[in-house]
Amino acid sequence: MAREKILIVDDDRSVRWALNQAVVSWGYETAQAGSVAEAVEAFQTEEPDVVLLDIDLPDGSGLDVLNKIKDEQPDVIVVMITGNVSVPNTITALRGGAHDFIGKPVKLEELRVTLRNGSETKKLRREVKQARRERASGLSFEQIIGESEPVRKAVDLAKRVAASDVNAVLLQGETGTGKDLFARAIHQASERAEAPYVAINCAALPANLIESELFGYEKGAFTDAKAKKEGLFEQAQGGTIFLDEIGEVEISLQAKLLRVLEENAFRRVGGLKDLPLDVRIIAASNRDLKAESEAQKFRLDLYYRLSVIQIDIPPLRERGEDVLLLADFYIEKANQKRRNQKHLRGLLPAVAEIFKRHEWKGNVRELRNVIERASILEDGDFITIEFLPADLSSGAPAFASANQNVSFTLPAEGISLDEVELQLARQAFERTNGNLTQAAKLLHISRDQLRYKLKKPVDDARLSENNS
Ligand SMILES: Nc1ncnc2c1ncn2[C@@H]1O[C@H](COP(=O)(O)OP(=O)(O)OP(=O)(O)O)[C@@H](O)[C@H]1O
Ligand SMILES: [Mg+2]
Repeated sequence: MAREKILIVDDDRSVRWALNQAVVSWGYETAQAGSVAEAVEAFQTEEPDVVLLDIDLPDGSGLDVLNKIKDEQPDVIVVMITGNVSVPNTITALRGGAHDFIGKPVKLEELRVTLRNGSETKKLRREVKQARRERASGLSFEQIIGESEPVRKAVDLAKRVAASDVNAVLLQGETGTGKDLFARAIHQASERAEAPYVAINCAALPANLIESELFGYEKGAFTDAKAKKEGLFEQAQGGTIFLDEIGEVEISLQAKLLRVLEENAFRRVGGLKDLPLDVRIIAASNRDLKAESEAQKFRLDLYYRLSVIQIDIPPLRERGEDVLLLADFYIEKANQKRRNQKHLRGLLPAVAEIFKRHEWKGNVRELRNVIERASILEDGDFITIEFLPADLSSGAPAFASANQNVSFTLPAEGISLDEVELQLARQAFERTNGNLTQAAKLLHISRDQLRYKLKKPVDDARLSENNS
């Protein structure tokens, strides 16, 4: 492990010198500051693990520095040093998160023990976090529902990525397939879980802003840059950045992203030096990036670099019975929302059939919306065809088109004629706003026949009540 770095803050140069000599001889790296302003600056540039902090400084109190440090980096160990160990000072400092307190003149042996304790504390904190993360990580992939082969494959690969140290992943999948969900799960299950997860939709930002958004800028980089600004990459330091819709990024910026991946470094806009970066990039696209790059709309080299690890998230229509698992999942959610009022038991078999055949262009998101809507409107025990959106209820199994020479194709596995009849009867009934005569006309049968057909199923008392 890298050596720990100590920032020594004291306005007395000879004290700093003496402390510096000692801690260097114990194997620490060091940096020094002589005032509040210098301390704050050095804290940001040097990123110390430990701060030895004098309280009486020429331009203010070390306690202010302490507060600032703890605001920004609560994990940093701060040891206060003062010639004036008064009770109020001590209490304020310890409340403010100081690790310990040492009186002046500093006894080196005491300092050494305190520093060792500090490292120990830091290590323990890290271990606690690690344990917490391990508990949480099991959960993150559990949120991804699906037992079909293509989903299992995607989840398997994602888990392996999470456990690895690869710095780039590409998630490819249609809209609503769960790219966001996968990206979060990978972050949660990784060693980076405690560090930030930063998500940005590249399509949502104008091209001229995106670079400074991602990389930040230096003071004076352009007219409005009055002070330096951190970019999202810096904010994600140690963690994960999710670049959604990466296909929308301009070619010039693509080159910069490639450099970030190759060199683990970046440059702020207007900056002159490279800054080190430890961030995993999860890029996502709902377009086929390979095709895009072959059509020269996306840099081939960036595509190759990103696709070293590519996770294909399958569309819902290729997930077989998963659609039913997901439907149950969202029905259960809807039930929980309306705890005692009503309780849906599932899908009618005919609806399940429709679900399995539907194209689901909006994938899981579309399914979720369909169930949410139906569960609000439905009064019975099951989700029926009645409250499905038109493209689902009319796309019912065998009826391909609405024109006059419809040909009904019998599905290979057969179909329940009663169910087909019922669905058609209901559709006619709905389309005519419950006018039995007109509905019967649409079906080329008599009113009585239609009434009979609508009444027949036991699960539907509602229609017959309203219309007999
Ligand atoms: N396998 C799954 N199990 C449970 N929920 C899922 C699954 N896949 C997707 N979802 C849910 O579906 C919705 C859409 O998923 P998500 O936002 O991750 O899709 P996306 O691929 O990022 O879509 P877009 O390309 O439109 O951004 C979310 O509510 C998500 O929780
Ligand atoms: Mg998304």
